[in-house]
Amino acid sequence: MERIPVAIVGCGGMGTRHLFGLAELERADLNPFDLVAVCDVDPARAERLADEAQARLGRRPAPCADLDSARRLGAVAVDITTVPRFHHSLAADAMSLGLDVMVEKPVGLTLAAARQLKDAVAGSDRILSVAENFRRDPTNRLVKALIDDGVLGEPRYFHQSSGGGGNLMAISMWRHLKDESGILFDAGTHYTDMMEYYLGPVVSVYAQMRLFEKIRYNPAATGGAPASNPGGVYGQSQAAMPAEFEATADDALFAMVNFASGAVGQYAENRAEHGRESWARSVHGSAGAVEIPKDRSGRPLVLTLDRSKTYTGAEILPLVPRFRLDDVTAALFGGPQATAYGLDFETVDRLLLAVEYAEFGNAIATRTPPEVGLEEGIRAIAVCYAMMESGAAGGRIVTVDDVLDGSVGDYQAGIDDAIGLGA
Ligand SMILES: NC(=O)c1ccc[n+]([C@@H]2O[C@H](COP(=O)([O-])OP(=O)(O)OC[C@H]3O[C@@H](n4cnc5c(N)ncnc54)[C@H](O)[C@@H]3O)[C@@H](O)[C@H]2O)c1
Repeated sequence: MERIPVAIVGCGGMGTRHLFGLAELERADLNPFDLVAVCDVDPARAERLADEAQARLGRRPAPCADLDSARRLGAVAVDITTVPRFHHSLAADAMSLGLDVMVEKPVGLTLAAARQLKDAVAGSDRILSVAENFRRDPTNRLVKALIDDGVLGEPRYFHQSSGGGGNLMAISMWRHLKDESGILFDAGTHYTDMMEYYLGPVVSVYAQMRLFEKIRYNPAATGGAPASNPGGVYGQSQAAMPAEFEATADDALFAMVNFASGAVGQYAENRAEHGRESWARSVHGSAGAVEIPKDRSGRPLVLTLDRSKTYTGAEILPLVPRFRLDDVTAALFGGPQATAYGLDFETVDRLLLAVEYAEFGNAIATRTPPEVGLEEGIRAIAVCYAMMESGAAGGRIVTVDDVLDGSVGDYQAGIDDAIGLGA
């Protein structure tokens, strides 16, 4: 089969991790792509990723600065992994150049950005895939099977709470700047995608939100170990960031979530936690509950039925006899009912990004819609902003529909002004 010429646009941490995913596909002889170009506004980053690609794929893509150059270098598809504020405009520009697109989440920095993209691409026959990786974790596929096959009974309650970080920088400075994203939005769009993946549409929310840590510290700037460095790819860029800086993005969100199904959710994300790192996610139904480990952690599920019978890891599989992973996930993780149990974060991360790429390749080859497209990507940001809009308004009930159509948007208005989308 002829390979699809592709370019990575955005050669920072996630661009590098996407390359690692492509290399996993190559290793498994499943790579539908030929990486022909790597683009970044910072030429040194593009050069670095081209070198890394040479080492991992055996071919050196051409470094370049923009979409048009990538197209001239032969790309017919692009994988956009820039900072969030350019996702909507780069995706729209790429599609208008005739390119198929995979874009990292969030699909837009605000709903106005996402709506602008939606208007720009209306009627386009190009593929637009939003790179949402958490739901592709085999562990999350198994949770979905437990829910869909009725093993939990009628779903009633979703719970997620996580904390950590203290006053340290989370990966990069932009994750603490409101006009660039902030950590609640950056992490939150993954989690709202997971909520709707498991339990269907969210209707309304109520939340409290805080900015607890107004100054953030970056130990890597003064030779210390990075405070957080997923995939091990952020050390160099963190060393060039300030040792301390003012945070403008809120860092703690505590919400109640109302699903269309009647289920209720509770969501707490405290990125200013000074106790130990914490994580809990669970789905509770009329027949039992499942405790879900952190995405990409490689840890097993714990299912309890009838308040007493506990099933861990592979013991769960006989309860969902129809559970099957898609072919690529099965090939990479080791079988149609494989799990990620026992694998480390870096390995699961790379394999999920490989799965994401494979699905994008299949969507291009068959001209079929990807699992997470523009609509799903927009809903994920709308549910996340519904919580943040509610929190910013002191806790009023906000509907997702009002955020989607722009009737509620005061919190985002300042961001829209900053990125040139203000009214
Ligand atoms: N799915 C996941 O698990 C996951 C994990 C981390 C990051 N992300 C997402 O990936 C995206 C990138 O995050 P990151 O951590 O790699 O950030 P980063 O800051 O490390 O890298 C962003 C890169 O984009 C480049 N860039 C900025 N504007 C550009 C433009 N107009 N054209 C080309 N390049 C441009 C920057 O120079 C930088 O190299 C974000 O949207 C983030 O939310 C997703």
